[in-house]
Amino acid sequence: MSLEDASSLEPVNNNPQHIAIIMDGNGRWAQKRFLPRAMGHQAGVKAVRKIVEFCAQQEIEVLTLFAFSSENWRRPEEEVSLLMNLFLVTLQREIDKLNENKIRLQFIGDRTAFSEKLQKIMSDGELLTKNNTALTVVVAVNYGGRWDMCQAFRKVAEKMDAGLLASQDITEHLINQHLSTVGLPEPDLFIRTGGEQRVSNFLLWQLAYTEMYFTSILWPDFDQQALADAIKSFRSRQRRFGHTGEQILNQTIPLEQL
Ligand code: FPP
Repeated sequence: MSLEDASSLEPVNNNPQHIAIIMDGNGRWAQKRFLPRAMGHQAGVKAVRKIVEFCAQQEIEVLTLFAFSSENWRRPEEEVSLLMNLFLVTLQREIDKLNENKIRLQFIGDRTAFSEKLQKIMSDGELLTKNNTALTVVVAVNYGGRWDMCQAFRKVAEKMDAGLLASQDITEHLINQHLSTVGLPEPDLFIRTGGEQRVSNFLLWQLAYTEMYFTSILWPDFDQQALADAIKSFRSRQRRFGHTGEQILNQTIPLEQL
């Protein structure tokens, strides 16, 4: 949620509106079992299904999943093509079910690098589910936070070149309007599984006020209970957005200033 849009701010201890997850640990999950990494990614898809179902039950509004980063192309060619195939097969299999459950599907990232077939499945899925009002699942593919900011700044610069914007028009709100996440609330809770404690070029701009939660659980083992624990941790935190703890506790701030 941007500070300008914060009049709809949730009360302190409520559920997160938007959860963003780095699903890390598929490879190690497989290696621990002497299985090929591919099996780890397949198990990762099963975990995605469970977490999507749980978020829908919990009436979470947005779930953003980092499925493939701009840097993941550096993996061995065989693993990249396996992941592409897994996306394709998973989307083909799941889109109708998502739609039946009134779940909206969106993709963020530079999809031009994908095969035409995959791009078509992605845009067909978005079109089919665009009016759904339950959970929105945002899948970040070939996504990088720096890429997102660059493409936003480029669009703004093009409008400046065309004389449609002046430098004094550049505000946080304007940048938000040009990011790939336009229209989505900012993440309230960021989760990274797999034990690493870094953001790895995920939603860099959008995570400014997000609560961070790191767990050593490997993604395929991340289940409903693990997510409930993360949400419980989120609920125990005091989000201050620059204010003092006392101001928040005493509710002395007009909502529009939060
Ligand atoms: C990171 O684990 C995981 C990935 C790069 C791929 C995640 C993708 C999925 C779970 C499939 C999701 C599919 C859809 C359609 C949403 P890693 O391989 O880096 O694990 P490691 O750190 O243990 O090696």
